[in-house]
Amino acid sequence: MKLGLIGCGKMGRALLEGALQAGIVKAKDVSVSSRTTETRESLAKDLGVNAVSSNTDLCAQSDVVYICTKPNITPIVLLELNESAECLDGTLLISTVAGLTLATIEQALPDSARVVRCMPNTPALIGKGAAAYTLGSNATSTDAATTCSLLGAAGSVIEVPESLMDAVTGVSGSGPAYVYTFIEAMADAGVLNGLPRPQALELATQTVLGAASMVAETGLHPAILRDMVTSPGGTTITAVQALEANGFRAATMAAVNSATQKAKELGQK
Ligand SMILES: NC(=O)c1ccc[n+]([C@@H]2O[C@H](COP(=O)([O-])OP(=O)(O)OC[C@H]3O[C@@H](n4cnc5c(N)ncnc54)[C@H](OP(=O)(O)O)[C@@H]3O)[C@@H](O)[C@H]2O)c1
Repeated sequence: MKLGLIGCGKMGRALLEGALQAGIVKAKDVSVSSRTTETRESLAKDLGVNAVSSNTDLCAQSDVVYICTKPNITPIVLLELNESAECLDGTLLISTVAGLTLATIEQALPDSARVVRCMPNTPALIGKGAAAYTLGSNATSTDAATTCSLLGAAGSVIEVPESLMDAVTGVSGSGPAYVYTFIEAMADAGVLNGLPRPQALELATQTVLGAASMVAETGLHPAILRDMVTSPGGTTITAVQALEANGFRAATMAAVNSATQKAKELGQK
């Protein structure tokens, strides 16, 4: 498979490195585009991929192209592709752009364009991503399989109706940042109570990793797992009470909801 990436910043690079590490594509079969020479040179040097300046050339030489530009830049990119419509013949486009709807993308491109909308997240870089996708009106079952194998190489992947894509953005697209904040706060509290910073960070990180793995591997509801570790009158139930008293659950839900609403707003621009 010849893979292209229009824009290869934080998200593009995470998807690309995830796919390269999983061996699903070879660096020699990958092209990336960006505006600046500096970005192109560093991508070519670091990853051994072909770095080009033309988005249309990139599409013409690729079977599958991820669009990984910022929401405000993407309409310009779509205009460029539409003006050289032949570059899209036989090419599947997979948009990662928050808020940008399939209808907007398809209206900007030739009628026959095959498009998938997805929402990945940056742990794709280490093969631990969480992604969801929705097929566009011309996308085939083969395109679905290609999308699953590409995104699946960089973590877990599910198909959702497009109406849920903004909620996916709120939970998993932006989610790593909430968890980083939680880990940092746990470590800060450890330091406050006398632990050296590196040890506090190691304990907090491994605790989040271990607890997430417990949810994933046992399949038990998080509330059941929590009940299993809260002894009557013990330290953990005291901490859970403090979390609730300080609005932890409400703050988390508000964070997910804010990101979801922001994704909706981006889609209406
Ligand atoms: N970051 C996340 O956690 C995350 C999660 C889910 C989805 N997303 C989505 O992924 C997309 C990219 O986000 P990001 O965080 O990766 O942004 P980013 O780090 O700023 O990367 C965007 C890249 O696009 C390149 N670019 C800009 N204009 C271009 C053009 N006209 N043609 C080709 N390349 C161009 C930029 O490189 P030059 O300046 O060198 O051109 C830059 O490397 C966004 O739409 C976002 O909604 C991001």
